[in-house]
Amino acid sequence: MKRQKRFEEIEKRPVHLDGFVDEWPEEGFVAMDGPNDPKPSVTVRDGEIVEMDGKTEDEFDLIDKFIAKHSIKIENAEKVMAMDSVKIANMLCDPNVTREEIIPITTGMTPAKAADVICQLNFVEMMMAVQKMRPRKMPASQCHVTNIRDNPVLIAADAADAAFRGFPEQETTTAVARYAPLNAISIMVGAQTGRPGVITQCSVEEAMELSLGMRGFTAYAETISVYGTEQVFTDGDDTPWSKGFLASCYASRGLKMRFTSGSGSEVMMGYAEGKSMLYLESRCIFITKGCGVQGLQNGAVSCIGIPGAVPSGIREVLGENLLCMMLDIECASGNDQAFSHSDIRRTERLIGQFLAGTDYISSGYSSVPNYDNTFAGSNTDAMDYDDYYAMQRDLKINGGIVPVKEEDIIRVRNKAARALQSVFKGLNLPEITDEEVEAATYAFTSKDMPDRNMVEDMKSAQDIMDRGITGVDIIKSLYEGGFEDVADAVLKLLQQRIAGDFLQTSAIFDKDWNVISAVNNSNDYNGPGTGYHMEDELWEKIKNVPMAINPSDV
Ligand code: 5AD
Ligand code: CA
Repeated sequence: MKRQKRFEEIEKRPVHLDGFVDEWPEEGFVAMDGPNDPKPSVTVRDGEIVEMDGKTEDEFDLIDKFIAKHSIKIENAEKVMAMDSVKIANMLCDPNVTREEIIPITTGMTPAKAADVICQLNFVEMMMAVQKMRPRKMPASQCHVTNIRDNPVLIAADAADAAFRGFPEQETTTAVARYAPLNAISIMVGAQTGRPGVITQCSVEEAMELSLGMRGFTAYAETISVYGTEQVFTDGDDTPWSKGFLASCYASRGLKMRFTSGSGSEVMMGYAEGKSMLYLESRCIFITKGCGVQGLQNGAVSCIGIPGAVPSGIREVLGENLLCMMLDIECASGNDQAFSHSDIRRTERLIGQFLAGTDYISSGYSSVPNYDNTFAGSNTDAMDYDDYYAMQRDLKINGGIVPVKEEDIIRVRNKAARALQSVFKGLNLPEITDEEVEAATYAFTSKDMPDRNMVEDMKSAQDIMDRGITGVDIIKSLYEGGFEDVADAVLKLLQQRIAGDFLQTSAIFDKDWNVISAVNNSNDYNGPGTGYHMEDELWEKIKNVPMAINPSDV
């Protein structure tokens, strides 16, 4: 065929590098309202659910069984199930109906009913609902701090940088699994240097991750995955009960935790049972609720390429975030994995959560350039900071971070690198040189870092575990190295583990270690003039981007 020149040119646009696929319900390639999704139903007998979403008790799989027993407010179930889904959807986006009035309804639904309610909402109505339904009144965001060489000095400097910008939660992982203890310690020390009160995690294999937490190297965990079909669950040698047990282990040691789920995982693993992504995700959210877990990271998360490829997929992703909030669960709302080459679609992906505000607008904003992101790259990275600051300023939105001055960033990066240097010295780990401190202070990416002896580092990481090093040893090393304030911050973090207040739903700390959660900062949105309002001090910071011309300077 003779090509039309305009079509040829448009095909060169970045969006043409993205993956798109037509609906294919039999394999789960359908975002919501799937032709094979069960119709909502419930039967309660003697206070127990004996029939749910078209299946009788004897037909229940493991997931149905768990949900029927643990996840639904049975006393409200029959009444709620008799309500019209359109009516419930209306209540969700109506500013005059409060969150408090809605929760008893949404927690009495079955998974199919919950999905059906979400299907009634358009994108803007979902945003209206998210603004009201997120548990914490004040929005926030979470970041990734990683680098492809697992360089600990750079992790510490980058963690301080991100903490100073305002992320209250930071997540690292490893390029090489054996580095985990070093990465966990580096992000914690760096974050406490940048801003006391930031909580940090290290996403690795589950037994190792729990062990890091128990030793006081992390303050929370998030990547405890749940799935929407039995086959995917059991493939991971898990059941809803085993995940619930793991959740209790964290809670018992004063560690915050949330689960992770998200549409697309069942399709990716080939066991979607012909159901829509939203229906399967609804089951995941109900499992989380039934486990008594306070929060969930969802919104496709690492599987965003799947819903991102099908019709209404990005709408479905906001819908699953909303559904999480409707079950009164903290929501870390995705926006954490790159899925599109188009800057316009990257913004489209972000906009629902960014404008409406969620507990964590991004559950992994890459605070380093995506080159160094060992989670495979985020939807937004360090290179997007100034665009993000401009969006916050243009629209008067608290997107979770504040503009910074270059000299301040240099100062906190340098201090964090030196603090980690003293920890390595105190713990008898391979030396961090002054040259490395200098490089980490000014680095763009890990390419700017001098080589370390990686074999020695990995041996020392194992050694940390074998010697039974704990958070207390880190505090001592910081103190002896002259970093009393950082030592004090890490000590406070360990003390909080005993107090346990930050196990409440949607909890974060401010710089003075006050807990801000759904308990003392509950979302009371009830129309204009209510709900979250940016305090003047924060607005001054958000207005004050260094790239703006100051009239007094000209
Ligand atoms: N469903 C379940 N778990 C997920 N994770 C990421 N995306 C999903 C999803 N859609 C979890 C996995 C992964 C970690 C980064 O987060 O455990 O290893
Ligand atoms: Ca995350």
